[in-house]
Amino acid sequence: MAYSDKVLDHYENPRNVGSLDKNDPSVGTGMVGAPACGDVMKLQIKVNEEGIIEDAKFKTYGCGSAIASSSLVTELIKGKSLDQAMEIKNSDIAEELALPPVKIHCSVLAEDAIRAAITDLRTKQGIKDEQVA
Ligand code: FES
Ligand code: FES
Repeated sequence: MAYSDKVLDHYENPRNVGSLDKNDPSVGTGMVGAPACGDVMKLQIKVNEEGIIEDAKFKTYGCGSAIASSSLVTELIKGKSLDQAMEIKNSDIAEELALPPVKIHCSVLAEDAIRAAITDLRTKQGIKDEQVA
């Protein structure tokens, strides 16, 4: 199967690979798996005081399309608010990378990972607010 140039670029030069401190109260961690193939993606986001995503890191154990999708989303979500990041759809990712139908679930994994990271962060911050109150 032929990968698009964009997939190959993100696969060969992945952006923002790594980890953030998951105990940092401004960091949210999303860990998701793809039932279709067993690939796993970890995506972490860090927000600043204004709630804007200032950093994002990923680690993906999976296929080239999954790695490219996670690399792309780390670039897409930086500078966005959590609400804006929630609006990113797997179809945006699949379109940008020109993924073939059999690889669409790889971009779904990336969408799920963003949502999981945001949910984790919101849960953490909600709990923190309650403790302060
Ligand atoms: Fe083999 Fe995803 S199915 S890496
Ligand atoms: Fe399963 Fe890409 S994430 S093949």
